[in-house]
Amino acid sequence: MSATQTVTQTQDSVPQTTLHLRPQSGEQKDQEASQEYRYAHLLPAFDTSEHYEPLTPFEHVDPGHRALNHDNPRAFLDNATSVVELTPNLGSEVHGVDLLSLDSNGRDQLALEVARRGLVVFRDQHAFIDAGPESYLEWGRYFGRLHVHPTSGHPQNYPELHLVYRDQNSTFNFEREESITSSLWHSDVSYELQPPGLTTFFLLSQPTTGGDTLFTSQVSTLKKLSPQFVAFLRTLKAVHSGVEQAEFSRSGRRGGIVRREPVEHVHPLIRRHPVTGEEAIYVNRQFTRRIVGLKREESETLLKFLYDHIDKAVDLQARLKWAPGTIAIWDNRITAHSAIVDYGQSKERRHGARITPQAERPIPALDGLDLSA
Ligand SMILES: [Fe+2]
Repeated sequence: MSATQTVTQTQDSVPQTTLHLRPQSGEQKDQEASQEYRYAHLLPAFDTSEHYEPLTPFEHVDPGHRALNHDNPRAFLDNATSVVELTPNLGSEVHGVDLLSLDSNGRDQLALEVARRGLVVFRDQHAFIDAGPESYLEWGRYFGRLHVHPTSGHPQNYPELHLVYRDQNSTFNFEREESITSSLWHSDVSYELQPPGLTTFFLLSQPTTGGDTLFTSQVSTLKKLSPQFVAFLRTLKAVHSGVEQAEFSRSGRRGGIVRREPVEHVHPLIRRHPVTGEEAIYVNRQFTRRIVGLKREESETLLKFLYDHIDKAVDLQARLKWAPGTIAIWDNRITAHSAIVDYGQSKERRHGARITPQAERPIPALDGLDLSA
């Protein structure tokens, strides 16, 4: 067993998998397969010597701000062959725009469009995907400081790239054993002091069918609630925790790596987008643990109500069916998403990469809300 291993993992951060070290013959088979695999250089690695200091605060300047002053903030879509709204509340699908060709104005406009639509899907982005990891980093850094995930696999020497991966040799159980569904709505790494904003994700390999991704608008889920109730929610803040995720890795699963000690942070229950000013629900079943100041039963009941609301609001959701060359860009501040693990029996490879710039510390919708615990 070497210090660096390739293992499987889930769409995102919740522990859903068990690491099984393969026998030598299996490793040899993997290596042979990797030599033939076009994206072998982007396979996930777990280096046990990796360790990072705690993240430090930084000032985030959102590129979308600049686009507010453009004559046409949607000019980057002028050459699109089609722009289709996936649903009234969330998501657009774009054909005919090469993301690699966007200059700084185009990228600023993209950030604003993603903030407004929550999710923008770009098809036929083979040039972007094949441009490789240095290009991914350059892309992501334009939008913010790149996040290094504390526990997931990344390509060798590229800790800023978060990977999802499974293949035929992996002894990986995609279903959470005690759950009847794989759906788990979340906003990525919301336990960080400055969670992600504009997030780019694409698949390098995908099963023939299955493995779609669900998205929902947390602006829209908030708008469904009564003004009186929203006024109360605006006064609340919640603890988001990375402890459980880290403990799962420490138990030897999911690569067994904890690169950075887990953190917990308090965020407003309702946050305001820095560019659009829109308010959005900011709690999720994966990382939110309790509402500060409420009794335990009150906190659990209120969070369960909100999670159930988010789960059931299919009129606010979009389902992305991946195709080769597809890139999804979403705004983690105002959306939630869930993997769909319906391909557990498939022997096909599913391999994806996420570029995850951090954004501002969540801004309370209620001015002056004290965010100390
Ligand atoms: Fe995620």
